[in-house]
Formats: sequence, C-alpha cells, structure tokens
Amino acid sequence: MNLHTTHDDVRHYYGDVLQSTRDLRTGACCPAEAMPPMLRTLLEDVHPEVKDRFYGCGSPLPPALEGRTVLDLGCGTGRDVYLLSRLVGESGSVIGVDMTTEQLQVATRHQDWHAQRYGYAQSNVRFVEGYIERLAACGVADASVDVVVSNCVLNLSPEKEQVFAEIFRVLKPGGELYFSDVFADRRIPDALRTDPVLLGECLAGALYIEDFRRMLERLGCADARGVSQSPIPLLDPQIEARIGMVGFRSMTMRAFRLPLEDRCEDYGQIASYRGSIAGLPHAFVLDDHHRFETGKPVRVCGNTFDMLAQSRFAAHFDLHGDKRVHFGLFDCSTTPTAAVAAAGACC
Ligand SMILES: C[S@@+](CC[C@H](N)C(=O)[O-])C[C@H]1O[C@@H](n2cnc3c(N)ncnc32)[C@H](O)[C@@H]1O
Repeated sequence: MNLHTTHDDVRHYYGDVLQSTRDLRTGACCPAEAMPPMLRTLLEDVHPEVKDRFYGCGSPLPPALEGRTVLDLGCGTGRDVYLLSRLVGESGSVIGVDMTTEQLQVATRHQDWHAQRYGYAQSNVRFVEGYIERLAACGVADASVDVVVSNCVLNLSPEKEQVFAEIFRVLKPGGELYFSDVFADRRIPDALRTDPVLLGECLAGALYIEDFRRMLERLGCADARGVSQSPIPLLDPQIEARIGMVGFRSMTMRAFRLPLEDRCEDYGQIASYRGSIAGLPHAFVLDDHHRFETGKPVRVCGNTFDMLAQSRFAAHFDLHGDKRVHFGLFDCSTTPTAAVAAAGACC
C-alpha cells in the first residue's frame, strides 16, 4: 500500500467526507447503548459535538485506570480521550494522537469545557497532531505509557506492523494494549485494498485475524486475548456487492508488554479476584473465557497468571504459585471462540 496516498485518502475521508456519525455507510460504529452502564453515565458529560463525530467500533476503555497514563491512537474528536480523562482522574493523564486537523480542531475546542465539567484545576489531556506510525515524533517516549487504547484506527494504517512496534516501544513493561478494531475472516483482495471508500469505512484495511496473531508474535507478543466481538453488517448495498464475500467483526482485544509463552502452560498456579477494582465489585473479565468472580480461586495457565501478576491488576488479585514445577500443557476447561483461539494461545 502506498503510504502517502493511504494517509491522504484516510485524512480526506475523516476531514472532509464525513461530517458526523450518521454519514458512515456500515454498522461498524458501536451504539452508545452497547456500552457498559458505568461508561454510559460518563458519556452524558462528554460534549455533544465531540460525540456527534464519533467513528469508533467499540468501547476500548479498560478498568483500573486511576492515576495512569493512557495513549489513544487515532483519537478523532476525542470521545474516548474525554471518557479516559474521567477514568484516570485528575492525577492521571491522557494523550490523544491523530493526523487529521479537522478532527483535532473539534477535540481541542472542548478541552477546557471538559476540565471544568469534571472539576479539574487544569485539563489532564493533551492532543498531538501526528502519525501513529511515528510516535517518537509525537513526543511519546520509550516505556512511558501504562495503557494504549485505540478505537477503529489500526485497520487504517498502511504500516500496521510499524504501529504495533511503536505500541510495544512506548508501553511500560507490564503495560497493556486494549483496542477495538475491525477484523476480517480472510485477507482482503488486493484489488480492493486501496479503494478510498472501503478504506475509509474501515473495511479494506481490516486485519485478518491470523495475520494479526502472526504480526504480534513477530513483535514478541505471543498471546493476545479477545475480550468481546460482534459482527459488522454492511448496510450499503453497493459496499455489500463489492466486499460482501468477507466477514467483518468488531473485536476488542488486549495484549500486554510481557514475555509470554506461545502456548498456555500449566504450573499449578491460582488467581483469586479481590473485588477491589472501582465499579467491579462482583467480577473481573480478563477476556472472553476468563471471568474471575470475587473471592473464587481459579486455576490459571502461566500466561494468564503473568498478565495478572505483572500488570496493574496485581493489586487486585491474590496470586498463588510460581513456575518452578511444570505440569504440561494447560488443560482448557472452556472452549474459547474460534476467533479468540486464532488470536492467541488458548487456555
Ligand atoms: C474511524 S476514525 C476513529 C476516531 C476515534 N477513535 C473515534 O472513536 O471516534 C479513525 C481516526 O484515525 C485517524 N487516523 C487514521 N490513520 C491514522 C494514522 N496513520 N495516524 C494518525 N491518525 C490516524 C483518522 O484521522 C481518524 O480521526
């Protein structure tokens, strides 16, 4: 894919062609009703103009963010940045990076409005115009970010592997990538990959789930987890006629900057959730096959153990065991969905 043409086409689509969420031609954009109730309440305090130009396909807003530094790649008009501003609290900070001036103009116009609304002495968000493939040029240093989020953006990049390499560069050890994006059930035919409308609608550049897994593995991340997913309907008959042979899904994925194994191995380790994450007194969901009920000990594989023990979630779990004795491959007690099995190790 030609780098400059793709960036220009995408910028034109989000800067000039689309004026509001209603202009989108697929059902990728996630409706507010699909959000967790707690986030829906916070959405009421986001400025209407910001919400009106929301083009995301999920709610990549993980829990336990108080006091953290979060980076939103392709933040657009800043809906998620402002939700995150609230979630990290006044002691945390949020950086939003986007390459489209028109999008950032809307985002920055309402920066003071949000700070006042939240009762902050000053805004804890910073917007940077730049490319997600070049985060150093945006002033994001190595190992400086706790959580990277992104909502329906990575598919638009002509250099996806470079974006993921940058993500793992800027994440602190144990930091988390938590993102929602459009995934495809096969590779997109070459003839369609540069079509400006299919690209702008987040279809032509959609990641084939197996290639995503391979890419992350090359970058040292052998176990990305699927959190949730839903099919994307192609609402426009012309778009359906052109690319309807591909199955598209909006998926929320999480991956940690941790040296994990490429398979789930059994070391006899146990994790028990304390119920201490704000807003989650009863259970914590790590992924679509790990739901930890408060106080209930769960046998976990080595990778799951490390995701809990070496991340910001450690303070919220009682963790027992180490890796001194190996009991073989972890015996999966639940069957993960095909997409999740494809996206990483299975446990
Ligand atoms: C589908 S919109 C999503 C915007 C926002 N995340 C939201 O949920 O409303 C994609 C955004 O990513 C930005 N974008 C796409 N490719 C980019 C790149 N390579 N570097 C920086 N921003 C990019 C576009 O300018 C646009 O604002």
